Amino acid sequence: MRLSRSVLPVVLMLLAACGTPAAKPPEGVLVGVTMPTTSSERWIHDGQNIKRDLEKQGHRVDLRYADNDVPKQAEQIEDQIAKGAKLLIVASVDGSALSEPLQRAADARIPVIAYDRLLRGSPYVDYYATFENFRVGVYQAESLLTGLGLRTDEGQSVSAKGPFNVELFAGSPDDNNSVFFFNGAMSVLKPYLDAGVLVVRSGQKDFQTVTTQRWDGEIAGKRMEEILAATYRRSKVDGVLSPYDGMSLGILTALKNDGYGPVFPIVTGQDAELGSVKSIIADQQYSTIYKDTRELATVTALMADAVLKGRTPPQLNNLNDYNNGVKVVPAFLLNPVSVNKANYHRVLVESGYYTEDQLR
Ligand code: BGC
Repeated sequence: MRLSRSVLPVVLMLLAACGTPAAKPPEGVLVGVTMPTTSSERWIHDGQNIKRDLEKQGHRVDLRYADNDVPKQAEQIEDQIAKGAKLLIVASVDGSALSEPLQRAADARIPVIAYDRLLRGSPYVDYYATFENFRVGVYQAESLLTGLGLRTDEGQSVSAKGPFNVELFAGSPDDNNSVFFFNGAMSVLKPYLDAGVLVVRSGQKDFQTVTTQRWDGEIAGKRMEEILAATYRRSKVDGVLSPYDGMSLGILTALKNDGYGPVFPIVTGQDAELGSVKSIIADQQYSTIYKDTRELATVTALMADAVLKGRTPPQLNNLNDYNNGVKVVPAFLLNPVSVNKANYHRVLVESGYYTEDQLR
């Protein structure tokens, strides 16, 4: 299923059809782009893709990575404002921690686009480009059920034996997306938990308890180790809801160190990172969620270009769901795609996201 790529032609058509030719932005306008970290492949690709797309439009780009350091990201944004940036694109480390630089951007009349992660607690966020985040969580949970034999790939429920022991992980508590992913997943898992078909033996079920600071794979691995030591001496864990590939690999390492393998519990993920796709091919990680960052960059660059030309971006398809605590931020949401061993080749190789060689 490649729903997400089908969105782009519509976006491009809308853009072409959007009427009177508006003013061209002055040549070589500076756009400030800040990304959270280089410790995960996706943000490296996001940054490169946005830079390339904006430069193709004739803009200049100041691209910074914040090393997951909140004050550093605030300084980078302040610096971009001082350098005369005319628009800011921000993928935050902590979505609620940038109110001051956003206030300064507003004072200088610089529009702000939140990239992938919503900026919270500030009125000075103009637009938001991201994926259907609730759906990401739904897909993660559905793939956990499929892996456990409780659901077919086509979505039919199967009454398998059980109960199955599962453990739950969520993302960083300061990332608005974490809540969407977790709520999406729980919307699917709750009936199974209520019916006792799935059991969380550690008892660690609520969002705050299962979050993972900064999405850190080592922290996730350590928590998995502790759960295995405290809860699974006489029983086995059958599945782990993991919201991000970097955490999934940490969790798998903990499982291996505890003696699991060659058959592993069902472990989910997100981002289709290279290491995780290889792990899926090797029958270790079970699934991931592919989000085409090339598309997100393209949509964001089109949004930015429209804003710089004084237009409302035509690429908005959600005006309700992303309330940042102060206002509802108009958003464009792309579709994620659930990937496992059965469809990785079609989704990731045939789309040109990875080559066969990269996956060897
Ligand atoms: C992104 C995910 C990513 C996670 C960790 C989230 O905000 O939406 O794609 O896996 O951050 O980097």
